[in-house]
Amino acid sequence: ELPTTYSGKVELAIIGGTGLYRLDTLTPVARLTISTPWGFPSGPITISKTDKGFPIAFLPRHGLHHDLLPTDVPAQANIAALKSLGVKVIIAFSAVGSLQQHIRPRDFVLPSQIIDRTKGNRPHTFFERGFVAHAMFGEPFDPKLNLILAKYEHVLNGEDGKKVKLHSPATEGKDLTMICMEGPQFSTRAESQLYQSWGASVINMSVIPESKLAREAEISYQMVCMSTDYDAWDVSGEPVTVEIVVGNLTANGSNAHRFAEAVIDEVAEEIKNGNLGNDLAGSMKMSVSTNP
Ligand code: ADE
Repeated sequence: ELPTTYSGKVELAIIGGTGLYRLDTLTPVARLTISTPWGFPSGPITISKTDKGFPIAFLPRHGLHHDLLPTDVPAQANIAALKSLGVKVIIAFSAVGSLQQHIRPRDFVLPSQIIDRTKGNRPHTFFERGFVAHAMFGEPFDPKLNLILAKYEHVLNGEDGKKVKLHSPATEGKDLTMICMEGPQFSTRAESQLYQSWGASVINMSVIPESKLAREAEISYQMVCMSTDYDAWDVSGEPVTVEIVVGNLTANGSNAHRFAEAVIDEVAEEIKNGNLGNDLAGSMKMSVSTNP
């Protein structure tokens, strides 16, 4: 049984998506059940330590047993709980559909932009109940963190040991846009083709409101997208089967482990040096428009 309290600060967190439910290569040192003013997070938060002793928080977005629909993920509690630990940087994994031929199932993507197509029924701000604040969100992810993560394509394994691609603004020379839809049903073909016409790269159901709440909490945030399918636009190829998607999810899960494990030391080092996780500090102070 792990301790249920942890007294030190934890500055780096990983949020696991579908296919990534724990970080089993690290040494767990505590498992926390944290209550916040917004309720309980998706599940217990595990604190683990790297070989070098750097503490990392891990939170499974859909619960330990994947029993939360995207719409029902308690994103406010998730971000508030991580903030209460002292988290400054979040690396958030998520399964996505690909909207581009060259982004193949099992490829990873580090997006730099978001189009919000959720239906407005998810609580998406901490500033309720008589407070008004407007956070800047033109750059929804942390470009510094994106650049660091973009260097780790070499750790991703494909079938028969072949490598899979890691797509990023650095490799493609432009913004990579993700669509966030409400779900739980996937898109129609017409919707999928509409998103392609907008130039979007990938689609999921989770980046909103998580990224917005991280911004309000002044936490540096980057999503790591793991492609599982070609969504509904692709009428040329073989129809997607559940078997194929599950195979891709499993492969992505093991790559997510390898990726998280590989990037942690450098990200931890940059946090320790003060180069990462401080850019948003104090940003919300100027954003509150309610007269004090
Ligand atoms: N998550 C994984 N594949 C997806 C898709 N095609 N659309 C939305 N979310 C997804």
